Amino acid sequence: MTSDASLPGSDQMSRGNRDSDMLAAVLALPDQLRRAAVQPPVALDSAFYTNLVVLGMGGSGISGDVAAAVLSEECAVPIIVVKEGGLPAFVGKGSLLVAASYSGNTAETLAGCAEAMRREADIACVSSGGELLDMAEKNGFPIVKVPGDMQPRAALGYLAVATLSLLAAAVGISIVEQVREAIEILDKLAVALAPGAAETENSAVSLARKMVGKVPIVYGGSRVAAVAANRWKCQLNENSKVPAFRNEYPEMGHNEIVGWSDGNPLRSAALLVALRDRGAENPGFDVALDISREGAAGLVEISSQGVTALARFFSLAYIGDFVSVYLALARGIDPTPVEAIGRLKSRQ
Ligand code: F6R
Repeated sequence: MTSDASLPGSDQMSRGNRDSDMLAAVLALPDQLRRAAVQPPVALDSAFYTNLVVLGMGGSGISGDVAAAVLSEECAVPIIVVKEGGLPAFVGKGSLLVAASYSGNTAETLAGCAEAMRREADIACVSSGGELLDMAEKNGFPIVKVPGDMQPRAALGYLAVATLSLLAAAVGISIVEQVREAIEILDKLAVALAPGAAETENSAVSLARKMVGKVPIVYGGSRVAAVAANRWKCQLNENSKVPAFRNEYPEMGHNEIVGWSDGNPLRSAALLVALRDRGAENPGFDVALDISREGAAGLVEISSQGVTALARFFSLAYIGDFVSVYLALARGIDPTPVEAIGRLKSRQ
């Protein structure tokens, strides 16, 4: 990692210098939500499910985490997110399994979907194409087709709204207000965090500067903030190509804070980011952060905006999307390619 804390100027960034369009994709997130929200609803087979399962990996799997966090307070049946090819024993008749794979070619998702078919679960698919779409068409599964030719992680707006809509429809919950509020907040953030915005006020640019040469560790203090912390971690890994980690309160209060409270010199390499979701936060998060900040190179707090869970999630996650691209640009690398994932998939 370079120790040069300078970022390219705003002009270079807006031209997407060494950026095969990840910045444009990030800027388009509010539009993705707008387009996804007007998709016609997909009809599901059953009126009652005993459990809801989202199956997906990486940038697609996160759409399941978002949906589970958003619906968990209202949904009377369990929602679980599976990020592997095997399925828990309870998945079968009475389950709705949403298989989410942007490419439609991810080995674990295809294997889990085939297993769900054998167990006679109801299946719906979210994808832009590939084998998953073929499988869905051949078997008559409901499909939400998302636009193609993007990196999966750059399509989170499409994927999250599609997955959430399917699950919400299965349990009769409306997400109209959640999506409306998310769009309203993201529209404002897109202006404030865009490359042309004044650098003194652009919190994503200044945070990216602070992160150069550090290992980001992102904490969330609520269910929604924990999912956003994972999105930050994955975006920092894939866009900025840096190691990054995440955890959530209360769990971090029972182990991780101890690591910050003695004299280990490695701690000064870590920059902590706390995703605050004050109305929904677990009490004690402040204390855990106070203990943690003593040992790390710094702690930056970011607050959620909005009332609904979806808006609060996206308001936290969106800043991380920008930070991850600006950090890549600061490091002089293209945020878009993820050659290591391609190498893994070609050998699976
Ligand atoms: C790449 C990315 C990855 C993929 C993952 C699964 O941009 O975000 O994490 O999402 O490798 O692939 P898909 O989403 O096509 O099933």
